[in-house]
Amino acid sequence: MMKKNRILLILLLITSSLFADEIPQERGQNGEDIFKNNCISCHMMKMGWKLTEKEKSTLLAPTAFGITKHVRDIFSNEKQFVEFVSDYITKPAKIKSRCKDNVVKKFGLMPPIGLGMSDENKKAVAAWMFNNIGVNN
Ligand code: HEC
Repeated sequence: MMKKNRILLILLLITSSLFADEIPQERGQNGEDIFKNNCISCHMMKMGWKLTEKEKSTLLAPTAFGITKHVRDIFSNEKQFVEFVSDYITKPAKIKSRCKDNVVKKFGLMPPIGLGMSDENKKAVAAWMFNNIGVNN
């Protein structure tokens, strides 16, 4: 990536995280925006094999592709997927986690991000993940 692009990206990340705390969760936000505001800071939108060594060493959680694909492998029905994800992000627990043991050991459990989200937004973000992340690869 060119240096200028990287600076722009960093600025974008900083401003979006500033606003993420200030804008109250609104009704009817779309799933993609919710993911960008609440999830992408930990679940990078990059295929695992495309991560640089530096990214790998600073990773806070499995990538968006990783979690979506493996949860979708288990819950291939959208409704079940949405139910599992909405619940998991609100009350994460080791026994519920479908990640391999070593993943939970490495990163720790996910914080209960969903506690601050409306049911509508939890479902919207989960449905967006189901239908968009890693569907073509
Ligand atoms: C502060 C970092 C962080 C944020 C923010 C975060 N997650 Fe996670 N998430 C994790 C970690 C770490 C794991 C792996 C350990 C685990 O399963 O709890 C994980 C795992 C998951 C899993 C897999 C659960 C399983 O059983 O395999 C899903 C699905 C998930 N996250 C969805 C989300 C969604 C949706 C958001 C945004 C609303 C989000 N995460 C925000 C850290 C985060």
